[in-house]
Amino acid sequence: MQEKLNGLKESALKELESINSLPELEGWRVRYLGRRSELTALLRGLASLPIEERRAAGLLANEVKTSLEGKLTAKEQILHELELERLAQKEAIDITLPGRQMPQGRLHPVTQTINEMCDIFVSLGFQVVEGPEVEWEYYNFEALNIPKEHPARDNMSTFWVDLVLPVNGKDGERPMLLRTHTSPMQVRFMEKNRPPIRIVVPGKVYRYEATNATHLPMFQQVEGLAVDRGVSLADLKGALSEFVRRFFGTERRARFRCDYFPFVEPGVELAIDCFVCHGSGCSLCKGSGWIEIGGAGMVHPDVLRHGGVDPDEYTGFAFGLGIERIPMLRYGIDDIRHFYNNDLRFLRQF
Ligand code: PHE
Repeated sequence: MQEKLNGLKESALKELESINSLPELEGWRVRYLGRRSELTALLRGLASLPIEERRAAGLLANEVKTSLEGKLTAKEQILHELELERLAQKEAIDITLPGRQMPQGRLHPVTQTINEMCDIFVSLGFQVVEGPEVEWEYYNFEALNIPKEHPARDNMSTFWVDLVLPVNGKDGERPMLLRTHTSPMQVRFMEKNRPPIRIVVPGKVYRYEATNATHLPMFQQVEGLAVDRGVSLADLKGALSEFVRRFFGTERRARFRCDYFPFVEPGVELAIDCFVCHGSGCSLCKGSGWIEIGGAGMVHPDVLRHGGVDPDEYTGFAFGLGIERIPMLRYGIDDIRHFYNNDLRFLRQF
């Protein structure tokens, strides 16, 4: 009996050594410690031994059993750890692979400029509104004192739209066009709103012109309109000078010179002193020291009347600023077409 037990233990331990997987270990457990194993049978057989042998054999048998169970647990633990290690290696994620960059969007430089300009006017008490790009000839020209044969129409070669609709449902049918400036919103807004009025109108305008480095058939403007009792040219100068200082820097100066637009009286041209040469003359300002950025003036009494505003009671100023020119001057962009070619190499710089 004792020999048997020792032999059993020896072969069990020897076999255990060569085991290196959990399923194999389970086989081993069944064979040596299971209900049908030799050891279990021996333990059951103890009862039939003569009493004097039973004690020693019992002790030994239990000792073999405890020792094999201990080895089993130890081996199990080792194999378990090995298995985890193997899994960790097999299923590892390669975290050394560089991540893929999410493409980051941004606003178009022209949109950025419009937003920046509107923010400044908003802080001066103006409200931002938008108007239609397909417009009646009436709002674009007639309501702004530019009748049919007026020479000012020559400056704004027009895209006519193949569409004739009644203006506000009255007055019969009237021709339509792509607005040549944002000024038609002056009368449109006055028709629907009473003074005090302070608005800026950003948006696209269209002119039937050949494309080159400084001209496109579509470009953008920001219109301004302020109407109230006692609005004067000084208010116009104040508002635009303040805009120039905030937008281009506190040391910039604004220059107002007489100019002519049929819908303002008096009319001015707005320029800023060149921020490259500071007025002494360079290639950016073409030697003049000044850079034109738009037109402005006191709203013509007829225009106020067209908007339903009494010119004896109210006065107003208006301005129109070109947009693309501004980032072109700021960043030294030599061709306006860059803005609308949608070349990401260009757009990503802003
Ligand atoms: N609408 C004019 C243009 O496009 C600019 C302007 C606006 C001038 C308002 C005076 C007042 O040239």
